[in-house]
Amino acid sequence: MKIYQQAPADVTRYIDLHRDIALEDEVQHFENYLRPIRRFKEITPDTEILEIGTGTGWFPLLCKLRGLKCKGLEISSHLIEIAKQTGRRYGIEPDIELGNLEDYGLPDDFYDVVIASSVFEHVEDWRTGVHKVYRTLKAGGVLYFESTNKFSFTSGEYSGIPLYGWMPNAWRYAIRKKVQGEDIMKLGIDFHQFTHACLRSEFKRAGFTRILDRVDVAENEHITTGFRRRVVRLAKRFGPARALALTFAEATRFICIK
Ligand SMILES: C[S@@+](CC[C@H](N)C(=O)[O-])C[C@H]1O[C@@H](n2cnc3c(N)ncnc32)[C@H](O)[C@@H]1O
Repeated sequence: MKIYQQAPADVTRYIDLHRDIALEDEVQHFENYLRPIRRFKEITPDTEILEIGTGTGWFPLLCKLRGLKCKGLEISSHLIEIAKQTGRRYGIEPDIELGNLEDYGLPDDFYDVVIASSVFEHVEDWRTGVHKVYRTLKAGGVLYFESTNKFSFTSGEYSGIPLYGWMPNAWRYAIRKKVQGEDIMKLGIDFHQFTHACLRSEFKRAGFTRILDRVDVAENEHITTGFRRRVVRLAKRFGPARALALTFAEATRFICIK
């Protein structure tokens, strides 16, 4: 994947939708990332955090507001600019570098925490990405990972089509090109619709010592609906219920420890 000087149409659409974000509105989202991580790693002002694919930059900006160190890696210079503009409204500057995870030179054994939320589906060579994340974490470092789940009934990637993720890649690419134009393939396309099983096996191959999926890390007191609480309770007790819950969940989610 390349870094483009001109914003692909999907980035322009994304910017139009998210230009005026308020960091206050993202606080819950921010806590949802940090809560499960804190169970495995203390987060202090010295903790080295990396976010891959920063989008509008709300995560590194909220880190900065809270005195936490967070570096961002983002493939779109236009989105970095949006993050800087938002930062100016709050009197802070985010630390985000322009680069593609696939070939960016991340330091070995450096970060305590890596956040990769809604980004790996867009990384063409995602396996290389997983191995790079592993290498850049210190021993005991934590990866927070969230991405597509192929057999989810709805899709955050393209909500217009039911069972969008179930389609073969070639069909999804063809539909998106037809509706959104050829340059969706430059940036914005979900190259991958993952399953928990395929991600787990790649995390294992990379070397992670503990790989916890969304059922493992779910905490009842933070689940908002009674239905979800019941599903998690069942999934924690019975293997087949767990397999079903992971297969059809709206997204893949993992905490991996190096
Ligand atoms: C859907 S957005 C998610 C943004 C943010 N993580 C969030 O959850 O709000 C995906 C972001 O990843 C960036 N991205 C996609 N491929 C990338 C790559 N190979 N390297 C770095 N960033 C990438 C995109 O430009 C976009 O900003």
